[in-house]
Amino acid sequence: MGAGIIQREVKRLKWTIPSQRPHESTDLLRRIDAYLTAAGVDAAHLTLRDLYALDQVHAFGYSATMAHLAGIELTADMHVVDVGSGLGGAARVLAAESGCRVTGVDVNAAMVEAASVLTHRVHLEHRVAFVAANAMELPISDGTVDHVWCHYVTMNIEDKKQFAREAARVLKPGGHLSVVEVVAGPNAPPTYPLPWALRESESFLAGPRVLRDAIVAAGLVIVVEQGDLPRPPWPPGPRVVQRLDVVIGDWETREHNMITARRQRQVTDQFLLACKPDRSRQRRPARL
Ligand SMILES: C[S@@+](CC[C@H](N)C(=O)[O-])C[C@H]1O[C@@H](n2cnc3c(N)ncnc32)[C@H](O)[C@@H]1O
Repeated sequence: MGAGIIQREVKRLKWTIPSQRPHESTDLLRRIDAYLTAAGVDAAHLTLRDLYALDQVHAFGYSATMAHLAGIELTADMHVVDVGSGLGGAARVLAAESGCRVTGVDVNAAMVEAASVLTHRVHLEHRVAFVAANAMELPISDGTVDHVWCHYVTMNIEDKKQFAREAARVLKPGGHLSVVEVVAGPNAPPTYPLPWALRESESFLAGPRVLRDAIVAAGLVIVVEQGDLPRPPWPPGPRVVQRLDVVIGDWETREHNMITARRQRQVTDQFLLACKPDRSRQRRPARL
């Protein structure tokens, strides 16, 4: 695919992305490789499953990705943009499950580099590619995307209206945006560090209506609005234990605080599915 199509659709960017320190992506890949070696994985025959412990960078990992996927409809002819694609775990699952092609966009260049390397290793690079860019200005042309997917990213985004405007801009008429995010619960605020932020000043956790209203203001129509999604089981076979400590520093404290925050309803999850109206399909008034 991928690279050619992405290049055609890439636009000139105004928003900057943080410059990558030369060692960052190498460090991340080194930690991932050390984990794979310790887990006894044959790097020459890497499978998607081998990566599930660390490449689904969100609570409940692969199971939550599958729950999100079960709430939407993807087909092989679709182009999906994964906003905040992280290590590309969800992007690879979407492509493998539905046959669609996916462009992952992430502001962290080290994540983009690692996502690309892992995707090559599982031979999905013909359908899944990654670009370093900001969700505030997606490097994608107007009206070219069938589905915008976003999982556990908006807590890092202050300007949720701009996020929603960009998703609406790149979608084709009739295309969909789906988001799974953490939202502030009735007993907020939670204690930091949390998985997405070391301190409150870095976090843009908001109540459930904030993103919803931003999506509506961007001209999309909410189709589904739901709290926690029912989670399908992990794939059959030996149990997969999540190892996000390989990817995110100070993971133990962050995870502990997140478990407490969920239990005390300081945070909850939210799933939103929205559609871009297709004006050409709306009925014209009958001529007199
Ligand atoms: C918790 S991770 C989730 C990764 C992925 N969605 C997943 O579920 O595995 C959040 C990701 O969002 C990215 N991110 C945060 N703010 C962003 C922005 N403004 N534009 C693009 N990516 C962003 C981060 O760099 C990080 O990789």
